Amino acid sequence: MISFQDVGLRYGAGPEILKNLNFQVDPGSFHFLTGPSGSGKTSLLRLLLLSMRPTSGRMEMFGKNTRELSKAEMMAMRQHIGIVFQEFRLLDHLTTFENVALPLVVRGEPESAYRSNVEELLEWVGLGHQMNVRPELLSGGEKQRAAIARAVIAKPDLLLADEPTGNVDPELSERLLHLFVELNRMGTTIILATHELQMLDKFRFPRLQLSDGGVNVTA
Ligand SMILES: Nc1ncnc2c1ncn2[C@@H]1O[C@H](COP(=O)(O)OP(=O)(O)OP(=O)(O)O)[C@@H](O)[C@H]1O
Ligand SMILES: [Mg+2]
Repeated sequence: MISFQDVGLRYGAGPEILKNLNFQVDPGSFHFLTGPSGSGKTSLLRLLLLSMRPTSGRMEMFGKNTRELSKAEMMAMRQHIGIVFQEFRLLDHLTTFENVALPLVVRGEPESAYRSNVEELLEWVGLGHQMNVRPELLSGGEKQRAAIARAVIAKPDLLLADEPTGNVDPELSERLLHLFVELNRMGTTIILATHELQMLDKFRFPRLQLSDGGVNVTA
């Protein structure tokens, strides 16, 4: 699903944030992405989301060299990727329901086809009562749950999640992790950045550990 060969990344003329990364991620796997604050987790996820290009090296996703993708191919690939941003990025002018339904709208699905699925997922993440309000009225944890629901609603092939449970209590954090595990069982490949040690202990998935610009893969 993902293959990195000597991938490096720097922002502008700044230092190399990621250096000579070599790793692979198999389809259907679940990896935690760990490393101290500033180690490059979000930057690595930006590469995987195709929102940044590596400064050096070669990256393959879904069997294709990302450097050779046309704009249209890149957009098509992007539709198979779900993302939970660290800072949520909900659209302010849409309701919770509309935010979560967005990936399906983009795919051209009619509301009659997805309404009950979106409602069911929102109930499941505890946002049934907040479906018709705008994000500004949601708490941090509620925004986070809406962002997770939006990322998983279209059952993406690859799910990237940047500290997706950083703003909820431990009990909800574990429930949400179970949602990701369930999605993974249905075939979604998952890379989840987290600092939460109890989560790493409880769910024993392999780790991509970033430090000093490099990556260590531990089973
Ligand atoms: N847009 C940017 N322009 C310049 N430098 C950046 C940019 N985004 C991140 N960086 C730098 O890249 C390095 C890695 O940042 P990144 O956000 O990827 O780390 P992180 O592991 O996600 O940290 P955190 O755990 O705090 O979210 C940091 O030194 C940061 O200052
Ligand atoms: Mg980050």
